[in-house]
Amino acid sequence: MNAHVGTPTSRVDGPAKVTGKAKYAGEFKADGLAYGVVLESTIARGRIRRIDAVAALKVRGVLDVLTHEHRPPMADHDQAWKDDVAPEEGSPFRSLYDDVIRFNGQPVALVLAEDWETARYAATLIQVEYQQDAFATDLQAQRDRAFVVEKPEKPRGDAAKALAVAPVRHAAEYYVPTEHHNPMELFASTASWEGDGRLTIYDKTQGVQNVHNYLCGVFNKKHDELRVISPYVGGAFGSGLRPQYQVVLAVLGALALKRSVRLVLTRRQMYGLSHRPASIERVSLGARADGALDAVVHEAIAVTSQFEAFSRNDTAWADLLYKSPAAKFVHKLARLDVSTPSDMRAPGAATGVYALESAMDELAVALKLDPVELRLRCYSDRDQSSNLPYTSKRLRECYRQAADAFGWDKRNPEPRSMRDGGDLVGWGMASGVWEALQMPAAIRIVLSANGHAEVSCAASDIGTGTYTIVAQVAADALGLPLENLSVRLGDSSLPQAPVEGGSWMAATTAHAVVNTAGEIRGELLKLAKAVPNSPLRNARVDDVVLVDGKIASRQDASLAVSIADAMRHGKVDRIEKEETHHFAEDKSHARNTHSAVFAEVKIDEQLGVIRVTRVVSAIAAGRILNTKTGHSQIMGGVVWGIGMALHEETVFDHRFGRIMNANIAEYHVPVNADIHDIKVIFVDEPDELVNPLGIKGLGEIGIVGVAAAIANAVYHATGKRVRDLPITLDKLMA
Ligand code: MOS
Repeated sequence: MNAHVGTPTSRVDGPAKVTGKAKYAGEFKADGLAYGVVLESTIARGRIRRIDAVAALKVRGVLDVLTHEHRPPMADHDQAWKDDVAPEEGSPFRSLYDDVIRFNGQPVALVLAEDWETARYAATLIQVEYQQDAFATDLQAQRDRAFVVEKPEKPRGDAAKALAVAPVRHAAEYYVPTEHHNPMELFASTASWEGDGRLTIYDKTQGVQNVHNYLCGVFNKKHDELRVISPYVGGAFGSGLRPQYQVVLAVLGALALKRSVRLVLTRRQMYGLSHRPASIERVSLGARADGALDAVVHEAIAVTSQFEAFSRNDTAWADLLYKSPAAKFVHKLARLDVSTPSDMRAPGAATGVYALESAMDELAVALKLDPVELRLRCYSDRDQSSNLPYTSKRLRECYRQAADAFGWDKRNPEPRSMRDGGDLVGWGMASGVWEALQMPAAIRIVLSANGHAEVSCAASDIGTGTYTIVAQVAADALGLPLENLSVRLGDSSLPQAPVEGGSWMAATTAHAVVNTAGEIRGELLKLAKAVPNSPLRNARVDDVVLVDGKIASRQDASLAVSIADAMRHGKVDRIEKEETHHFAEDKSHARNTHSAVFAEVKIDEQLGVIRVTRVVSAIAAGRILNTKTGHSQIMGGVVWGIGMALHEETVFDHRFGRIMNANIAEYHVPVNADIHDIKVIFVDEPDELVNPLGIKGLGEIGIVGVAAAIANAVYHATGKRVRDLPITLDKLMA
């Protein structure tokens, strides 16, 4: 048993990806393919007065130009446009729906042509006249108009009073700018016309069934008229959780032309879509001289659009980490004339924990306490908000193992005290926390008499390794070698799956695989019992396991029947089972992953250039299914945290309400030269409560805390506290 789970297994989809065999949404072939190009608005708010496509339509090869005035019908009520991930409040964006401009970069026309170059050229010939209205894109200017969002966390004690009388206090405001996901793969859809209004849609998405249901609603189609396929995704990080506008437009184009249409957005156009909302985070901490917290107040003001209220939990993470008798969390939203923000890796935590963990560092300075020691003195073994214990929480081990690996005991606490030649050296640390969720899902397994099994589910693998872990878990549960497994994902016609996000897919699929494999085992046992003189004739399903191609007694492996024999004797050549798995709501424990991040920066004192020379990230996330892909997940999160700390910022020109750096030349992300030594430690964390396999998920925890650890290291190196991200050299030199 467990030959594959927990081992460093290479991606089963790796060869397909590196040889180019793996196809992405914009690469699928279709007969008679036409190409779409989107024209975007150049104003942030107003109306389209007139749109003139005459010149564009005259270009040879142009097939049509769709606008809100000229297009096939789409649903006219909000509900049809609400996808699984849509904010509860508000009215979702509808592309090419009416003359209203809600954000800069909004699609206003779709040019359809025989080839992409022609469509692109023709789009430049379209004349749009706008009525421009007053708009706002600056969060700081709108902060006083923000409204409060109701959150489940209730205030505890009298935080204001506790703060006022606390012997040691720290209060400061931190800022995280708008960030964009910038996945490598562009947003793309190929809508393949199957005749008769039927379409197969290859889409870049984190949830084929979410897109499928949504398109059926928007275009009033029956479920069997549309099929959405997304076998591979070149990164998404949350930007593909909601159906993006290009999939609507590709279908709209195909319905207009009655032929196949491909639409790939440009990098610039992707900046008109989902983004991490800018947020102002104010954290106030009150403590006793020994470091015990008396009060925590976290107030966030985050951006949302004019038409939907998007919010995540920025503020209440302190409740999962630190004991404090009084706490208050306030989340506000400020409406700007931008597209609705969306989830971006560790939504709410990446931003909120950055502020909290920066503030904890500042409190440690005020208390003259080591930052690790402060966290240990406030350590909470219960979720403070629900007052529940954790299924497991080995955060103390994370601090210890990361500190040891980093060499934290050699740190001189005095800022500017450590040097390496001309560089100032800084060491900082932070905690991280995320959720360990599971969602309902179904898994189908088809076991063939030749010992091959196919496992399928509509889930997407967004690069997180779902193909691989599903194969590993199924191989162990069915007692087959990994090569005998094939996994099918990313097709709306496969068994039900949630969107791939929230770090829930590993636990969800693994749990469902084990359940369906149990059904297969039951079926095999029936067959094995029917074999003449069966050694398993008295066995019950829980007494047997599948191992090495046999069904065998758990107690005595010599009592076994070969699966091939059992199936041959029963005259079956395949066993198929599909089990839908619902997780029982267990309200008796809090379920979270935790981390400790330690960072070293070296800063050129003359130039202010910052290098992150070392990061150690210790993760407690239950059982790690695949230490190789898991390691990559966390490393990716750390790299992104470096970007968040030092590079990433979407810059608006507020005079025009327009993004100035909507490209990956001027929107900076870390490159190889920015990445040095990253060490990932998985802390052993047995957990029998979170789910039977003890899995918590790794997708998001890797980024949480990284920006704070780096910001704290920058303070330690320089004595200067920069509280608005990214920490660029101009802010350091100012
Ligand atoms: Mo993740 S932000 O749930 O894709």
